[in-house]
Amino acid sequence: MAMMSSKLTDQPEVDMETKMLSASSNDIGSSSWMQPAVDALRREEVVGFPTETVYGLGALWRSSRALREVFRIKGRPQDNPLILHVSSEAMAWSLASVVPEAAVVLAKAFWPGPLTLILPADSSIPPEVTAGLSTVGLRCPMHPLALQLIELTGEPLAAPSANISGRPSPTRSEDVLEDLNGRIPYVIEGGASAVGLESTIVDLSHEGEAHLLRPGGVTVRDLDCALERAGLNIHVQESTLEYGQYDLAAVEIPRAPGMKYRHYAPRAPIHIFRELDAAVAAEELQDWLRKVWAETDVNSRIGLFVREDVWRIFAEGRYEKPESDQLVVEHFPADDLGRAAAHGLFAAFRHFDRQDCDMIGVSAMPEDGYGGAYMNRLAKAAGAAAAADRDEV
Ligand code: TXA
Ligand code: MG
Repeated sequence: MAMMSSKLTDQPEVDMETKMLSASSNDIGSSSWMQPAVDALRREEVVGFPTETVYGLGALWRSSRALREVFRIKGRPQDNPLILHVSSEAMAWSLASVVPEAAVVLAKAFWPGPLTLILPADSSIPPEVTAGLSTVGLRCPMHPLALQLIELTGEPLAAPSANISGRPSPTRSEDVLEDLNGRIPYVIEGGASAVGLESTIVDLSHEGEAHLLRPGGVTVRDLDCALERAGLNIHVQESTLEYGQYDLAAVEIPRAPGMKYRHYAPRAPIHIFRELDAAVAAEELQDWLRKVWAETDVNSRIGLFVREDVWRIFAEGRYEKPESDQLVVEHFPADDLGRAAAHGLFAAFRHFDRQDCDMIGVSAMPEDGYGGAYMNRLAKAAGAAAAADRDEV
């Protein structure tokens, strides 16, 4: 029989059935339902688990075999280091060769929570975790199931976000299955991730300095306040990210190795609505829709992740609107410092992919509170999608 050559490189290889582990009402106060995931980790397998930022793909921190699996399963470049997840400060400090006072101050202020600290690495940490760097990323997550999983396993867990490299990070257990079904034995169900974007990363590995490598739920203002309250004369240096320029080169942060890669992107090109005034933003939405209709097929399917107030003005106003089956709309309230925008962004991207959208339009947010992290991911996703369109990544 002739062998058919197939181009299935985008298809998951199915080696096993992935089981979703979830607590039933009988399990209140008991963690035995999570035991299969703990046993799998101890067998040096990798499992999906919830955190308050995004779902993680966990592996025993010292198992070369499990760590190599993480890279293989995600299709992750080898030079992109992993964060170690801990359940206590003591566990964290055992993984660092130097623990600066700023690290202790920030851990006391924000752990458990969405903050990763980069410190000089202890020599016990395998090179698969650090990607050969002399530093290590440490985070104590807040989600009770993440903490429980680490406690039950009794060791730190190395974990990147549980998505295929380049895709939006998963914020629900179904999103993990969408990317990794058949590639991992278990996903622990823990509800929708409260934050919805990955942790803030601060590099404390240079004495007396603090550098922001990735914005997240803990803002630079939060960090500076905590350092100042403790009497430390250290201010967090922000990188020179330029949110207005959407090509990959402009949003690269050389200090965070992972940032040079294509990130967070849905399949369709993304347009960002920059106007913050709701009435003007509704006009901007109309102009963009007309441009899309003029330049592409009028039957293009359009995904919109827009502010509720903008959408209301557009939907109720005398605007030219697409047929409802050409439009996939997700809207979010704009009045909570970007919390709802951050919470819904990646879920919306995945929804638009499933709905086969050809173009995506997304509202900008002011860059305070969660807005800074939201605009950072949005800029990267838009840049990555634009570059992919030009065949550059
Ligand atoms: O919220 C989060 O941080 C999630 C959840 C699962 O905890 N994890 C996460 O992991 O976002 P990942 O692997 O998708 O992103 C980790 C980022 C990468 O950009 C990586 O380059 C950077 O952290 N990183 C890790 N270790 C580093 C180090 N030693 N120095 C600089 N950057 C580091
Ligand atoms: Mg990631």
